[in-house]
Amino acid sequence: MTLKLATAGESHGPALVGILSGLPAGLLLDRDAIDADLARRQQGYGRSPRQQLEQDRVEVLAGLRHGRTLGTPLALVVQNRDHKNWEWGMSPWPPDGDPSGKGTKAVTLPRPGHADLAGTLKFGHRDTRNTLERASARQTALTVAAGAVARALLRAIGIEVEGSVVTMGNVDDAKADRDTVGGIVEVRARGVPPGLGSYATRDDRLDARVAAAVMGIQAVKGVEIGAGFELAGQRGSAAHDEIFKDERGIYRETNRAGGIEGGVSNGEEVVVRAAMKPLPTLMRPLRSVDLETGEPAEALVERSDVAAVEALSVVAEASVAFELARAAREKFGGDAVGDFVAAHSAYLERIPWSAR
Ligand SMILES: Cc1cc2nc3c(=O)[nH]c(=O)nc-3n(C[C@H](O)[C@H](O)[C@H](O)COP(=O)(O)O)c2cc1C
Repeated sequence: MTLKLATAGESHGPALVGILSGLPAGLLLDRDAIDADLARRQQGYGRSPRQQLEQDRVEVLAGLRHGRTLGTPLALVVQNRDHKNWEWGMSPWPPDGDPSGKGTKAVTLPRPGHADLAGTLKFGHRDTRNTLERASARQTALTVAAGAVARALLRAIGIEVEGSVVTMGNVDDAKADRDTVGGIVEVRARGVPPGLGSYATRDDRLDARVAAAVMGIQAVKGVEIGAGFELAGQRGSAAHDEIFKDERGIYRETNRAGGIEGGVSNGEEVVVRAAMKPLPTLMRPLRSVDLETGEPAEALVERSDVAAVEALSVVAEASVAFELARAAREKFGGDAVGDFVAAHSAYLERIPWSAR
């Protein structure tokens, strides 16, 4: 039993679509809570006016009845409200009438730092838009919607996941220079029991899985768990978390491992950090080559954020939640949510551990 998310959707196409399978039946979902996460993704310092335009809302087309999951695939849709400005340009079928609105001219100016060049070469496109629409981080709206569902499942077994910004570049300065900035985000998960994940292969190891989930987000260039890169310069005596026990169970006084040892959660907070590169669409464009003429040119300028670090903290939170929920489904199984919760409780009875 595992969670799976399949997605489709172009940034300015009609909608983003997700199929989320592997949920137990009977899980109560709260539409407002999902929409609140979608709204959090759209907020934050340095975002473009598109975020006000979209005001994302989730629609559920299948797998849910009266707010409870049916144990069947959940079909999620997030409409792209901006599509109304791109109806001709992004029409799935050959459009009627004369070209109008946005996206009517082929893009031939690939932006360094985006998938524009590599994707256009790979798929043999003439219009780089055929690449950039799917490569866009607009996709992360679905990541967040699915993450909100995963968080509901985790909450049923007492796990809370929270993302925050650690540092980000100076947005005001960058905006004045028509430039962009990146930053670092952190996700912490509390109440994760010891024993999620396993030791040997990257498919089993929780650290590898969580890192891949976060590295899989657009613009993430580095991921660390716990003290991460800092550990490389330390002595063993200062790098690990000694083990103690009191009447409540086993505990640690430090958490340099970030809650995962040997690929397995150890009962401490799971702590993951991600480095985001500066956004690659610049209002003062970088040098590129016009793919039509082969001549030097400036890269495409398209409405874009100055920074999306706060948004990344929400997307990373959703991605870590999804991966933890997936690992929890594998460990505790169950067709009904009650079976899942009961298996978790029985497991906690067996081990000398309690969430602190
Ligand atoms: C939430 C979020 C919002 C983003 N918004 C923008 C944006 O407005 N403009 C931009 O150029 N890149 C944006 N990006 C980053 C690009 O999607 C990313 O740089 C691109 O996919 C290439 O990075 P990669 O090589 O890591 O995939 C955003 C990323 C995230 C996670």
